[in-house]
Amino acid sequence: MPPHQANGLPAGHEADDYFHTNPPPKALSSHQSLAREFIQYHLENSPRRKVVLVTSGGTTVPLENQTVRFIDNFSAGTRGATSAEYFLQEGYAVIFLHRQFSLLPYSRHYSHSTNCFLDFMDEAEDGRVIVRKEYQDKMRRVLQQYHHAKDNRLLLLLPFTTVTDYLFELRSLAVIMQPLGNRALFYLAAAVSDFFIPRERMEEHKIQSRDNDAGGQGSGASRQLVVNLDPVPKFLSTLVQSWAPKGSMIVSFKLETNPSLLVSKAEQALKRYHHDLVIGNLLSTRKWEVVFVTSDGEERWIRVPKARRSKSISGVEELVGKAERKHGMEHVDLEGGTVTEG
Ligand code: PMT
Repeated sequence: MPPHQANGLPAGHEADDYFHTNPPPKALSSHQSLAREFIQYHLENSPRRKVVLVTSGGTTVPLENQTVRFIDNFSAGTRGATSAEYFLQEGYAVIFLHRQFSLLPYSRHYSHSTNCFLDFMDEAEDGRVIVRKEYQDKMRRVLQQYHHAKDNRLLLLLPFTTVTDYLFELRSLAVIMQPLGNRALFYLAAAVSDFFIPRERMEEHKIQSRDNDAGGQGSGASRQLVVNLDPVPKFLSTLVQSWAPKGSMIVSFKLETNPSLLVSKAEQALKRYHHDLVIGNLLSTRKWEVVFVTSDGEERWIRVPKARRSKSISGVEELVGKAERKHGMEHVDLEGGTVTEG
């Protein structure tokens, strides 16, 4: 018997309904071809290679069909992009399903905002543009890893923008990954919206703000915009039961702001969706600590020691890698990280 949602419908039913009433992203079929080719390549050329789907960044919820305004969330894609690097380092092929323009593996070290790439460059005496001396070693390492991933076709980058794009892509990729069987891993770090405006209620054109303008869900008289959102069905159970390959490993993240809810919500998710692992994190401390909650009732905190917090933004991913290996995920790097429990 499939589990039931709060509204009494079986999980799969709600998901089907969602896909019938909301339009797929324009890029879906080209992404499907790229993913098929990527998986076929690894099935044929490296029969033991594991493939991980890493999801990363925030999904948007458009308020208009021709979208000017949308609801977004805070996620920059740091967790996903950093984790993808560690998976690559451990020999995985990575499908990186990410919010368009969010952080990417490798280039995240030299982005356009924090870590602005221009700050790493200099002009030599002969006028050539060069990398500053103090950054050469690190940049060479990053560049080598990036080239290794590219040259060996180990990294497939697929962007999404809206929550609907994300869900269509997730479903397609999971089904395309079925031939991988237990060599497939799902690592769902994207921040997925829980609410959206269904297609039939969405304004076609830009919602107008002036009293005498047409359109908008709000009251013209008050000039307020009242937005009425529906819940997005939870897709984890459908992913586990029908889309993902049998024997694959499914890791989801749980984000909370209230510390007293985190572990119980993670346990609830495992009971409800029957997947393998929930990694819980709090908005305010997510860069320094996470909790692993497994279906056999284990709860384990992983913390970056205080002394290392300011040095390394990727500290927790490094330690997550270490702990994941203990959980059988076999991915990881470990330049001297410490797993602190408690
Ligand atoms: O990108 P960063 O800035 O580094 O931040 C990283 C992160 C905090 C976003 C990441 O570590 C994280 O916690 N990601 C999950 C955020 C999230 O969606 O949490 P949630 O509690 O709302 O959802 C829990 C799970 O349900 C998620 O795995 C999600 O994939 C799933 N879900 C959510 C909504 C939905 N409609 N269907 C789902 O299946």
